[in-house]
Amino acid sequence: MGKLLLAPMEGLADAVLRDVLTSVGGYDGAVSEFVRVSGSLLPPRTFLRICPELAHGSRTRAGTPVAVQLLGSDPACLAENAAQLCGLSPAGVDLNFGCPAPTVNRHGGGAMLLDDPELLYRIAVAVRRAVPATIPFTAKMRLGNLDKAKALDCAQALAAGGIVSLVVHARTRAEGYKPPAHWEWVARIRDGVSIPVTANGEIWTTDDHARCRAVSGCPDAMIGRGAVADPFLARRIRALAAGSAQPVVDHAAEWLELLPLLAEYWHQVQHRISARQAPGRLKLWLNSLRLTYGEAEALYLAIQPLRGVDETSRVLALHGAPVLRAACAA
Ligand SMILES: Cc1cc2nc3c(=O)[nH]c(=O)nc-3n(C[C@H](O)[C@H](O)[C@H](O)COP(=O)(O)O)c2cc1C
Repeated sequence: MGKLLLAPMEGLADAVLRDVLTSVGGYDGAVSEFVRVSGSLLPPRTFLRICPELAHGSRTRAGTPVAVQLLGSDPACLAENAAQLCGLSPAGVDLNFGCPAPTVNRHGGGAMLLDDPELLYRIAVAVRRAVPATIPFTAKMRLGNLDKAKALDCAQALAAGGIVSLVVHARTRAEGYKPPAHWEWVARIRDGVSIPVTANGEIWTTDDHARCRAVSGCPDAMIGRGAVADPFLARRIRALAAGSAQPVVDHAAEWLELLPLLAEYWHQVQHRISARQAPGRLKLWLNSLRLTYGEAEALYLAIQPLRGVDETSRVLALHGAPVLRAACAA
């Protein structure tokens, strides 16, 4: 089968969640949250803060390679920072042309750049010169800013500028995260460029993955929110591709398998994130998990009002299986 990539998700999937999700298996690679580049040369510690995997061969503990994503609009500044980043030997350098955040767009970055394929080309050419051929240089784009009129021009500009593969999130900035994702547009882009294209958007189930492959014609897919809501999705997709029958999803059994992952997540969050922010991170993941697991709903409601680390650990232990109790007592 093709590759499965874990999507960059600033504020949702940080290094801790990447570590836990890739430990389940099924992902061939991941991309870090974006590093904002605006006017200055960032010190190595900034790249390491967003992508701590850089200190470990740019891989998660399970061995999944993690590329680092840059977001900016100035070709020279992006190139200078890409060169700095390459000194840390990332598994890849990725450019963001999809961020819909108003603060980013006001400064001409993210999805706004899709109005200007010529600028995309200049950015890609400048960064290409800064990234050694041994490090994959890639990009991720939406279908456009307000409409899809320049989608193909943008993809061709990036390919001509020297990226080696492209992820297409199959919506415009104006479409936000509203379903559907227009996988048929990914097919048009795939037909119009000679580099590999990865389809992204609205893959929540194994069926979605199969339909996305069929419609886009792309063997490779990137999964974002679906990976956070259903940590076993990539593994299930792989099992199907390996010839196992359509699995009957046993959510109760999966929840028991998920508990040690939740414990590990909570353990790492407490070590890496300030005590004030740690409970919020756990709530964020549980909020996604409750789309898939009824048990996550109960746990989410129980910890939702809590602010402190100790009380959160206590409630987790009360609601969880023995494995959670042991981890929270540690
Ligand atoms: C909370 C959140 C943060 C995101 N941050 C990034 C980011 O830093 N860089 C990026 O290229 N895309 C970012 N995205 C977009 C995702 O990578 C992905 O393209 C989008 O969620 C569609 O895929 P999905 O339907 O599988 O979630 C973000 C999405 C979400 C929901």
